Amino acid sequence: MIDLSGKAALVTGSTTGIGEACAHAFAEAGASVMVTGRNEERGASVVAALRDKGAEADFLACDVRDEGVGDRLVSATVERFGALDVLVNNAGVLSAGDVVETTWEQWREIVDVNISSLFAISKSAVIQMRKQGGGCIINLASEWGLNGEPGYLAYCTSKGAVVQMTRCMGLDHAQENIRVNSVCPGEVHTQMVDEMLKEDGSTPEELAAGVPMRRLAKPGEVANCVLFLASDLSSYVTGTNFSVDGGNDATGGGYP
Ligand SMILES: NC(=O)c1ccc[n+]([C@@H]2O[C@H](COP(=O)([O-])OP(=O)(O)OC[C@H]3O[C@@H](n4cnc5c(N)ncnc54)[C@H](OP(=O)(O)O)[C@@H]3O)[C@@H](O)[C@H]2O)c1
Repeated sequence: MIDLSGKAALVTGSTTGIGEACAHAFAEAGASVMVTGRNEERGASVVAALRDKGAEADFLACDVRDEGVGDRLVSATVERFGALDVLVNNAGVLSAGDVVETTWEQWREIVDVNISSLFAISKSAVIQMRKQGGGCIINLASEWGLNGEPGYLAYCTSKGAVVQMTRCMGLDHAQENIRVNSVCPGEVHTQMVDEMLKEDGSTPEELAAGVPMRRLAKPGEVANCVLFLASDLSSYVTGTNFSVDGGNDATGGGYP
């Protein structure tokens, strides 16, 4: 049983999906949780569910592209819970297209949300964690950051950047008791995947047929790995990109 009592966690994009599952996993492990995202109604309902579990939780509405987002999120977490022990950089967006089909608008959104927000929020978090003597950062990368996927140029590029940010930040802060790791999920059944399937005109079963385990992940299965990486059980783990993908990466990308 992982015990994070007395720890404070900030999870970006925790109004739904994997981020919401991480917020629940942290709350169940005894941590206080700052929930964030743009959807205030969803945020309030996640916070209510966490409080029902006996956890301390709060919601701060924000778009991770906002100017000053890192300082705002980190200082709100510290003011509310007294520290920032764990940051999960989870907020992310996906859109399809090769280099010709991808519009500048899609490209800029993906770069801003999936890469630049990690830079901004991690910068503020590391400054705070240094003051406290340590902490953990877990980034949501993707199997598509380790392998190419046809028709998702901007997304795969952004997740490849997250993989490299994780390695570099892991090394830069290895001697400061700040561990930085990522999880690289395969296909997780969330709103993001439902929207992708709708655009493709395919079904969850068809997607699952290409996964060695022949099923999609539940968000909680990714959250369990995030929880491990946030806990002392992973005390010698930093700079890694941890696959949670039902075996996809072991196939070298699995593209037929
Ligand atoms: N699902 C998968 O199969 C899969 C696989 C590999 C990696 N991932 C990665 O895992 C992470 C979570 O994915 P998911 O499947 O849980 O996605 P999701 O269900 O679409 O949830 C995305 C979350 O990000 C937040 N978000 C998006 N844009 C934002 C913005 N501009 N500002 C603030 N928050 C924003 C959303 O909150 P609001 O709408 O409230 O703003 C939401 O809480 C993403 O980084 C994704 O790339 C997912």
